Amino acid sequence: MRVVFIGDIVGNVGRDTVKRLLPWIEEKYHPNIIIANGENAAGGRGINAAITRDLYDWGVHGITMGNHTWDNREIFDFIDDESRMVRPANLPAGSPGKGSMLIKANGKELGVVNLMGRTFLPPSDDPFRTADELIAELRKKTKCILVDFHAEATSEKIAMGWYLDGRASLVVGTHTHVQTHDNRILPQGTAYVTDAGMTGPRDGVLGMEREGVLRKFLTGLPSRFVVDEGKWTLNGVFVEIDEATGHAQKVQLIRTDEDSWIAT
Ligand SMILES: [Fe+2]
Ligand SMILES: [Fe+2]
Repeated sequence: MRVVFIGDIVGNVGRDTVKRLLPWIEEKYHPNIIIANGENAAGGRGINAAITRDLYDWGVHGITMGNHTWDNREIFDFIDDESRMVRPANLPAGSPGKGSMLIKANGKELGVVNLMGRTFLPPSDDPFRTADELIAELRKKTKCILVDFHAEATSEKIAMGWYLDGRASLVVGTHTHVQTHDNRILPQGTAYVTDAGMTGPRDGVLGMEREGVLRKFLTGLPSRFVVDEGKWTLNGVFVEIDEATGHAQKVQLIRTDEDSWIAT
């Protein structure tokens, strides 16, 4: 099975980039299933119903979220009816939505789990024990499982990769918006990347306009962060999974931007 994961889609530039580059992704990677992190899709903060529909229309099969899940209040109106969207599974009990799902597309089935780290992020339940439960449950249906671990600390993400080695097909980090160059397949068959990077405006600070972020660093005063509108970048991960074992056979980084972009 061939799977493409697209890192945090940020704002207008991120959405336009996904729309424009999905045909190229289809052509180049021939994915059976495409998963994207949408926690910053609506103006950098959360996601709404219209954007969710657009992402599906453009070819995304499933959406993962993160610490910005609840930033756009519209999500409360539809997340409970969304079979193709997950928010971090280790949020407090009773949170709307769900943390794992089975995506069926193009004759393939992929289990998807979303988890959030506990270092430099709001308090949440133990992502490691939560992963144990959800992966055991999903493995009754499929051995092909993608885990989006939305976390700040590289150590926590690497630890999760090792913890799930042999139980997940891909453990991919999100949240830092900066792609790491450590894609590899761990000894028991789990593909691992510390962070997929983001899909959005390239020349801001993690997708936000430089001016506001710099003002905050230079003065310490409250500052309004606005999504940047400059040149685009697209970052993600491609993984090929052996469906009989759930083990990864190949894991590649996807990274392109407005200046290096050559349409093929
Ligand atoms: Fe993000
Ligand atoms: Fe985040």
